[in-house]
Amino acid sequence: MSNKKIWTKEERYRPYQEWDKQHLALLQQKVADSNWRLGYHIQPNTGLLNDPNGFSFFNNQWHVFYQSYPMGAVHGVKSWYHLTSDNLVDWKEEGTKIFPDGLYDSHGVYSGTALAVSDHLFLAYTGNVRDADWVRHSYQLGAWMDGSGAVQKIEKPLLTASPAGYTSEFRDPQVFRYEDNYLMAIGAQNEAEEGKILTYQSSDLLTWQCKGELEFTDKKMGFMIECPNLLVTEDAALLIFCPQGLEKDSCFYENIYPNTYVIADSYDHESNRLVDPTILKNLDEGFDVYATQAFQAPDNRLLSISWVGLPEIDYPTDQEEWAHCLSSVKELVIKEKQLYQRPIAEMEQLRIGEAVDINQDSSSQDSSSFVETKTNQYELLLSFDPLSKGTLTLCTDKEQNQGLTINFDSQHGKITIDRSQAGAVFAEEYGFVRSFTVEQKPLDLQIFVDSSIVEIFINEGEKVVTMRIFPEADQTGIHLACDGGYQGKLWQLRKTNQ
Ligand code: FRU
Repeated sequence: MSNKKIWTKEERYRPYQEWDKQHLALLQQKVADSNWRLGYHIQPNTGLLNDPNGFSFFNNQWHVFYQSYPMGAVHGVKSWYHLTSDNLVDWKEEGTKIFPDGLYDSHGVYSGTALAVSDHLFLAYTGNVRDADWVRHSYQLGAWMDGSGAVQKIEKPLLTASPAGYTSEFRDPQVFRYEDNYLMAIGAQNEAEEGKILTYQSSDLLTWQCKGELEFTDKKMGFMIECPNLLVTEDAALLIFCPQGLEKDSCFYENIYPNTYVIADSYDHESNRLVDPTILKNLDEGFDVYATQAFQAPDNRLLSISWVGLPEIDYPTDQEEWAHCLSSVKELVIKEKQLYQRPIAEMEQLRIGEAVDINQDSSSQDSSSFVETKTNQYELLLSFDPLSKGTLTLCTDKEQNQGLTINFDSQHGKITIDRSQAGAVFAEEYGFVRSFTVEQKPLDLQIFVDSSIVEIFINEGEKVVTMRIFPEADQTGIHLACDGGYQGKLWQLRKTNQ
């Protein structure tokens, strides 16, 4: 059924400038015909987007980069694409800023982070190189971006290889300040093929000393850890990372690879250890979150952004020559070693006009309501009476044959989300349903829908569920069947993308 193009190695790693000029124009035409383009999420113009990189605040602006392969919806030779913003919701595209054109990054400018250092932004990333025998070499590299947005690569690698005992699966440096020094956390694999996080220390950002493995668990963390992100605040430490091949008894997950976290009381720098960490948990209860980056902003908020897409999975837009998007920015709050992920206050700037009220009073039994939205770009707030039970269906058609269903039972604190009927089918192998528990209290939902992405915040960020869905054009209804009362508001949201 699929007429998927087979990409040769030569094509995937062909330098961008060697592609025929027509190629991008053809891709752009196909992308323009897509019904699934997003209104207010960061998406690629053409080709594939993956991890967010260098999420930061510098020169009075927010910055984010992403892993980009513009020549097709496949993992080809990656670069860093740059966007800036004044408010974290309206993003301006600044173009490709780090090209895979150096000796140390010829086969990909891989993931990394950014740190504002006086009047420059320091960028740390992995240079991926394949030699003549296609053996991987991973360099940790640096670059400086000035206030005008010009990027200058630092010639000498920060690190030329992984230390003894570790393989060349060694990438995604996170650089951050710690007391009077800089620290760097890097995703790694040891020679026994176990996922690890290595930390390094530096006083000048250019020469780095290995501090060894970050200690945060007794369990085996799969065969490789990608995208480690350690946040150390005054009263806690939060470690977010992506273990690949994680044993399911360490943390139950259904996606191909999970994006997980632990919260600790603190980070003990001397012993390079997280003090009293929680068990490993999934950052998101949905189907598609990976490679989350977070940092502490100058206003002290902990802000995060994720790749909404997973490695090694085909998505319906691949055929349209684009793939994946970034999540909206979230605020992370840690309370009593619990993580809450909330929409940032700036999301309210997307609301158009007055909200429509969607209410049902407590005396109604088994009643159901249907609301037709003008577009699939909206925010829906719903607060249910205690002990409510029901089904909310988003992106449903008039006959209600299709849609994304959210079954809730707040007496038992149970939520089940089913995307099997939400539109084009994909990632079948990993299941269409996600079920999980929430606190047993009156249920509160805040939902953002944007054409082909849905982000659901439950009980003020106690749980978050993110997913791509690919509905038909007539799937713009909201159906709610509930055995109790609720108060709700619905806002159409404005488009920030062209
Ligand atoms: C995670 C990842 C990173 C790597 C990047 C390459 O999705 O595999 O480990 O740096 O993507 O695009």
